[in-house]
Amino acid sequence: MNILTVTGYKGGVAKSTTAVHLATYFSDLGKTVLVDGDANRTALNWASRGSLPFRVADERQAVRLVSGADYVVIDTPARPHSDDLSELAKGCDLLVLPTTPDVVSLQPMLETARDLGDANYRALLVIVPPYPSREGELMHTDLIKEGVPVFKAMIRRTVGFPKAALAGVPIRNLTDKSALAAWGDYQAVGDEIMELWR
Ligand SMILES: Nc1ncnc2c1ncn2[C@@H]1O[C@H](COP(=O)(O)OP(=O)(O)OP(=O)(O)O)[C@@H](O)[C@H]1O
Ligand SMILES: [Mg+2]
Repeated sequence: MNILTVTGYKGGVAKSTTAVHLATYFSDLGKTVLVDGDANRTALNWASRGSLPFRVADERQAVRLVSGADYVVIDTPARPHSDDLSELAKGCDLLVLPTTPDVVSLQPMLETARDLGDANYRALLVIVPPYPSREGELMHTDLIKEGVPVFKAMIRRTVGFPKAALAGVPIRNLTDKSALAAWGDYQAVGDEIMELWR
């Protein structure tokens, strides 16, 4: 069983969106359960509005549901304290830290990275504005320069994500081209994770 936890020090940075789409990716590979560890129940509500290709459990059902799962994705609320993050890292195979590419996010990301030390984690750039903006690339370069492990793939900003959430489906179920391209972004992240876990 591989356990992946999505977390971060900040709210509203696509943690739940990332958890849902990585679980979608894993669901093509094996039995997948998403554990919704956030009291605001974003993932459970997402599932209840439509249908997702994996089970979503709250923490009360999690123990039973995850038995026999190949992949477990845990969505968490924002955690401003990095000591919590270190503890979380110990409980999973990979911690994924979504972050938006803006100047105010760089410093806290670097601090978090410093506190996490050599824990098993990767930063993920999300809600990346489209070309001609260079914000994604610039922050990517900055993180690498500072020695922060970061996924090569970034997740573009597109209205398809809130649309998919509203419809209760993963973005790959939407048919327009930009939605499929955005699904490709999460697939690329999934491929990198599978490479890490090989
Ligand atoms: N790549 C994206 N492009 C555009 N909008 C996005 C993208 N990813 C997420 N969003 C939107 O941003 C909002 C916040 O996303 P989400 O709920 O996943 O964040 P969160 O970090 O889990 O928030 P919280 O801290 O409240 O749990 C949602 O409306 C979501 O649809
Ligand atoms: Mg959330």
